[in-house]
Amino acid sequence: MAPRVLPADSPASIAEAVRLLRDGQLVAFPTETVYGLGALALDPVHVARIFEAKGRPSSHPLIAHVADVEAARALAKGGTLGDVGEALAARFFPGPLTLVVEKATHVPLALTGGGSSVALRVPAHPAALALLRALGAPLAAPSANRFQSLSPTEARHVVRSLGDAVALVLDGGPCEAGIESTVVDVRASVPLPRVLRLGALSLEALRSVAKGAVFEPTSAASRDEQRASPGLDPKHYAPRARLRVVARSEVAAVVAGLLEEGARVAVLLVHDVALPSHVVREQLDASAEGYAHGLFSALHRLDAAEGEGEGEVDVIVAEDVPTLEAFAAVRDRLTRASST
Ligand code: TXA
Ligand code: MG
Repeated sequence: MAPRVLPADSPASIAEAVRLLRDGQLVAFPTETVYGLGALALDPVHVARIFEAKGRPSSHPLIAHVADVEAARALAKGGTLGDVGEALAARFFPGPLTLVVEKATHVPLALTGGGSSVALRVPAHPAALALLRALGAPLAAPSANRFQSLSPTEARHVVRSLGDAVALVLDGGPCEAGIESTVVDVRASVPLPRVLRLGALSLEALRSVAKGAVFEPTSAASRDEQRASPGLDPKHYAPRARLRVVARSEVAAVVAGLLEEGARVAVLLVHDVALPSHVVREQLDASAEGYAHGLFSALHRLDAAEGEGEGEVDVIVAEDVPTLEAFAAVRDRLTRASST
């Protein structure tokens, strides 16, 4: 059975979402990054239903979404986000930033994967904020997809991935940023704030506020930190089809080779590449923001597309993105999506 889908911008939809959430059911809602799968963050039984619906190990901590910085502080130890955390929050809440801080005692371990830290975020989306305000409580919300599969940037992606494991999907149209929030660890126990997951908020933007701080990209994270933030698992955000990322100059030859082997091929391009006309293709914007906005939607479409002949696509060949820092987050998603 399919879940109910209601327009996110209607007060009646928000009221229905609040009713269902208080009843312990799961509600998917739009944010500026991707769609979230919400449940009451402070109720361990409700939170457990998220892990069940996603098929995600319960040791993977969830982000608590709150309406404002004060509600964020209420979940942090000592009622503060710390010096760097407060500075970042003042500048980027609401926005695509998630702060990891030491948790207040009343924050349940079910939310934090058993750990002593909690991830906090104020989403910059009118429907998400309306929902949080009407609810008057924090919402645990991972991306609204099955564990390790493509993140949802449209309501129908949620419906396809989770089916009736979710009671209601609030449809707010396509998400603006298109990739997840940037996760930054600002705990006092960490000498320097550290990026645990690259995301929609750029490293440049982070540096502009936390002067002197070193924001190490994820690739530099040690194995211990990988364990601390399971979103860093190499295989993540993957389409059903195999994804191969290749240089622009090699796309045509790689596609030709795959077609010769009889594979059903689709391509994800930024530039025009001469290819047989029957090859299904998606073209993304050449700017980092534009690319991020369209990436998951394009992968969802290609993954569901039909190749030459019958059946689904076997391989998606993606043109590589520039090695510039501005593309670090989308490069990270491409790398993980292509990891087997
Ligand atoms: O943009 C987003 O962040 C979306 C929307 C819905 O807000 N949410 C999202 O949640 O991407 P999820 O659960 O798919 O990813 C949460 C990330 C994971 O990489 C997780 O490991 C990390 O945040 N995380 C959560 N709590 C943490 C904690 N206490 N310590 C370290 N990392 C944490
Ligand atoms: Mg996710």
